[in-house]
Amino acid sequence: MHLLLRNGRVLDPATSRDEVADVAIANGLIAAIGPKLAKVDGAREINCEGKIIAPGLVDPHVHLREPGQEHKETIETGTMSAVAGGFTSLVCMPNTAPALDTPETLAWVQQRALQTAKCRVFPSAAVTKGRKGEELTEISLLRAAGAVAFTDDGDCVPTAGMMAKVLANVAPTGCVFMQHCQEPTLTKGSAMHAGSIAVRLGLGGWPRSAEETIIERDVRLNAGIGCRYHAQHVSSGGSVEILRRARASGQPVTAEVTPHHLVLTHEVCDNYNTLGKVNPPVREKKDIDALIAAVAEGVITVLGTDHAPHSADEKALPFEEAPFGMVGLETALPIYIEALVRSGAIDWPRLIAMLTIEPATLCGLDSCGVGKLVVGGVADLTVIDPAATWTVQPSALLSKSKNTPFPGRKVQGRAAMTIVQGEIRHELGPKQIG
Ligand code: DOR
Repeated sequence: MHLLLRNGRVLDPATSRDEVADVAIANGLIAAIGPKLAKVDGAREINCEGKIIAPGLVDPHVHLREPGQEHKETIETGTMSAVAGGFTSLVCMPNTAPALDTPETLAWVQQRALQTAKCRVFPSAAVTKGRKGEELTEISLLRAAGAVAFTDDGDCVPTAGMMAKVLANVAPTGCVFMQHCQEPTLTKGSAMHAGSIAVRLGLGGWPRSAEETIIERDVRLNAGIGCRYHAQHVSSGGSVEILRRARASGQPVTAEVTPHHLVLTHEVCDNYNTLGKVNPPVREKKDIDALIAAVAEGVITVLGTDHAPHSADEKALPFEEAPFGMVGLETALPIYIEALVRSGAIDWPRLIAMLTIEPATLCGLDSCGVGKLVVGGVADLTVIDPAATWTVQPSALLSKSKNTPFPGRKVQGRAAMTIVQGEIRHELGPKQIG
């Protein structure tokens, strides 16, 4: 298929491009970028006036649930949701059933993705067997099998002794280790942020220190090792200080923030609303302010949705029994725009960088052309309509699960078109705008 995207703001932080121009796509590759490109016979021309043409968005933190929990999501439905949200590449988490802790399970996901996925799927691998935190997986074999990151996400590597081994064994692979920062003995029975709402509802509180102590511990353990270390879904303002110090000391430490931690506070859990139940919990305004400031300062450099689908039946359980997690792929972009760009914290180029080249580099995907717009490179692109206003309707989500914490929320900004390897995988119809 040949496509000619006309007159968009072509925005690619990786190559420092920010100009109104056209992008020509042929045979799955970017054929040309520049103003007023010549017509191509047989090419479909798409008017992108007023829109941003960006590299395809990359999400480093997605739960696809396959194998084992296909009632919540599959690789097919999860990637349908991804392209609807503007994502062309995602890193899937290993907390499936079975866990992605062997080259065979990894190969199974890769094969399944080849057959059913609508976008690129890069698996991460568990760093301990069964994600139990007791015995290391075959890290170099998993790396050779295509793992782009190591993590026991959903669970923290619990002990300092095991964590030291993890860092020492992941470091030589050059791969990033992604920590789910949750000190388990501080969160037994915890259901939501430890604050006034938890007290009133009689729910177990989840202290900030559960996250902060793990980041502090890991950074200290890593000081003499120098493994690439990434703190997932940071929720506490206190964590920012630890991360800032670690980065200033030259450690290869990065961190990510989710859309929900940028805009929601613990009030969302009031009336035992399980749609607001997430791990780590959403906290208070002062945490949001600190997280946004950390993005503006460059202490947090990556955005990740932690898209965590759960069925309506599971979310209908009493608050303490309901699973932690929220879907995020389809609502992420406007929430990021609202929290980070419209608030004035960062500009569009920085937002696009945090959604493209930053996560691509984190997981080594930039080396295969992901996260940037290069002539001759893969044609993964997202056309963003910054002006599109719409209302989040759970039933309209393409994810198999509808557990969004944003039902009825009016938002602005949307992926108008998502192109993967030169093929249009998502295109907004005129009826979907407004
Ligand atoms: O809320 C969450 N849900 N946080 C996680 O880290 C895991 C995820 C899940 O797998 O449901």
